[in-house]
Amino acid sequence: MCGIVGFIGKEEAAPILLDGLSRLEYRGYDSAGLAVYGEDNGVRVVKTKGRLQALFDLTQGGATLHGAVGLGHTRWATHGEPSDVNSHPHVSERGRFVVVHNGIIENYAELREFLQRKGVRFASQTDSEVVAQLLEYHYREDFLEAVRKTLGQLRGAYALGILCADAPDKLVAVRKDSPLVLGHGDDFQMLASDVTAVIKYTREVTYLDNGELAIITAQGFQVYDSYFQPVEKERHHVDWEISAAEKGGYEHFMAKEIMEQPEAFRKTVFPRIRDGRVVLDDLCFDRDYLGKLDKIYIIACGSSYHVGMVAKYNFERLLRKPVEVALASEFRYSEPIVTKSTLALVISQSGETIDTLTAMREAKRLGARVLSIVNVVGSSIARESDDVLYTWAGPEIAVATTKAYSTQMALTYLIALYFADLMQTISREEYSEVVSELLLVPTKLEQILAQRDSVQYFASLYFNQPSIFFIGRNIDYAIGLEGSLKLKEISYIHSEAYAAGELKHGTISLIEPGTLVVALASYGPLFEKMMSNIVEVKSRGADVVGLTVESRVEGIHRIADHVMEVPDTHPMLLPSLDVVPLQLFAYYIALQRGCDIDKPRNLAKSVTVE
Ligand code: F6R
Repeated sequence: MCGIVGFIGKEEAAPILLDGLSRLEYRGYDSAGLAVYGEDNGVRVVKTKGRLQALFDLTQGGATLHGAVGLGHTRWATHGEPSDVNSHPHVSERGRFVVVHNGIIENYAELREFLQRKGVRFASQTDSEVVAQLLEYHYREDFLEAVRKTLGQLRGAYALGILCADAPDKLVAVRKDSPLVLGHGDDFQMLASDVTAVIKYTREVTYLDNGELAIITAQGFQVYDSYFQPVEKERHHVDWEISAAEKGGYEHFMAKEIMEQPEAFRKTVFPRIRDGRVVLDDLCFDRDYLGKLDKIYIIACGSSYHVGMVAKYNFERLLRKPVEVALASEFRYSEPIVTKSTLALVISQSGETIDTLTAMREAKRLGARVLSIVNVVGSSIARESDDVLYTWAGPEIAVATTKAYSTQMALTYLIALYFADLMQTISREEYSEVVSELLLVPTKLEQILAQRDSVQYFASLYFNQPSIFFIGRNIDYAIGLEGSLKLKEISYIHSEAYAAGELKHGTISLIEPGTLVVALASYGPLFEKMMSNIVEVKSRGADVVGLTVESRVEGIHRIADHVMEVPDTHPMLLPSLDVVPLQLFAYYIALQRGCDIDKPRNLAKSVTVE
């Protein structure tokens, strides 16, 4: 979703803003713009529909815009089509206020009408422009007073960057529900939607909390709470390298991130296993609390939801407690049954997905204790949870998640083991076996990745398919959901994931000669049943690519046309291995089809609107 960058200092702002925007491209956008204030020219704005390269060309890499203070923006259209005029920054009618916005101003229509009645003329169809016009309307030679009055009238979610031509020695940043971070240099300050945009210039950052406002000058900054009282903020040091957010020789971020999975898994899991035991220092659950749990609600969206679908099988088997997996966007409006004895497990890579965040708040309001799994340190979900476990996946830039999914999954294993151990619902033997197997997963992932050529070959056979089905049972079904989503997202091929036993209750009518079915058959207890389901689709003419573990390859080879295999492991850990060939399959198909793999159409990385 929209990306914001701001800079105030001594150097030319435009090239820095363009660089920052290029690092936010992964969030998904359809237009981009810059506003720079220079003493000679006042405010100059350049904005355009399309890719950042167009903005780069229009400004000759920023060289045509002079000034040491400015704002940049990448827009993901919500209100008003992608167009030059709807792009940000938006400027008030008299040219005094410049605004970039991420989020949605829910009452924009009534504000717009109000301003139009006062004679204000709007240039765009966006909700965001009302902020710039409202600032101008309230302006009586006091920038901050205008900000205060404007904020008092806004409803919705917003991160704002504001520049006032009458006070060009400062920028104002405001955060409500949409993320914003400040970056601090010796003689400059920055603001951005996330740290990737500032990390090249500084590693010292401050995360704004909900409702906070910051006044930023080249020398420093002051943060205020929603009552405009000054607040002291903790500074954070970002310790990952800029190279983590660069392609490092790979054609796409997605390929790099797929290949990083063994390391990401190691980083997330190994420090949390000591002397054969899972040690989650950050958590303090006890047996009594867990024993009284009435339910575990897993709340998430998209791929994170698919992690929850797998976790349900593992949790229910090991803990013997009911687990409900809810799509965050549905949870909030479904009158969920949550009590003080409910644990909400919230899963989110970005920690900013608005559906997940608001569902989490609802779960908390209803009395649940919230444990979250989050990748982005300091994100809203992390800060508002009762307990948080971080995935140490590093920055994930490709829109389609891979290493974040894998590390989220890894943490669900650790939580399942940690709870089962406390509740004494797991045998010593199984506990030790799973822990030993966990330590082998990264090496097994490396083995799978080393054989990626064979997956590329299968992709070359099927990249022209109009539709692809994924079938599986139990945990295999849950992994199929993720394989199918990956394919849809980046290759634009229609795909469905089905519980294999359910196929004959309707969907099998879509299977015809040549239809590709990817059949997941790695889960041992249901292997025979899966073989029957494969025969069912084969006898309707389907082409079948099977996916199974080494020890069962022979069984499936007799029926399927092609087979992808992964090493054997404990059944509960299978998702970590199985998902990788499916990620590669989607990747290579999209590659063959010439798709924009890292930035698929219509998608955004961090979905900060409902
Ligand atoms: C799919 C994908 C999305 C996200 C979903 C939730 O590849 O990345 O489906 O999983 O938007 O995002 P987070 O995990 O950031 O809450």
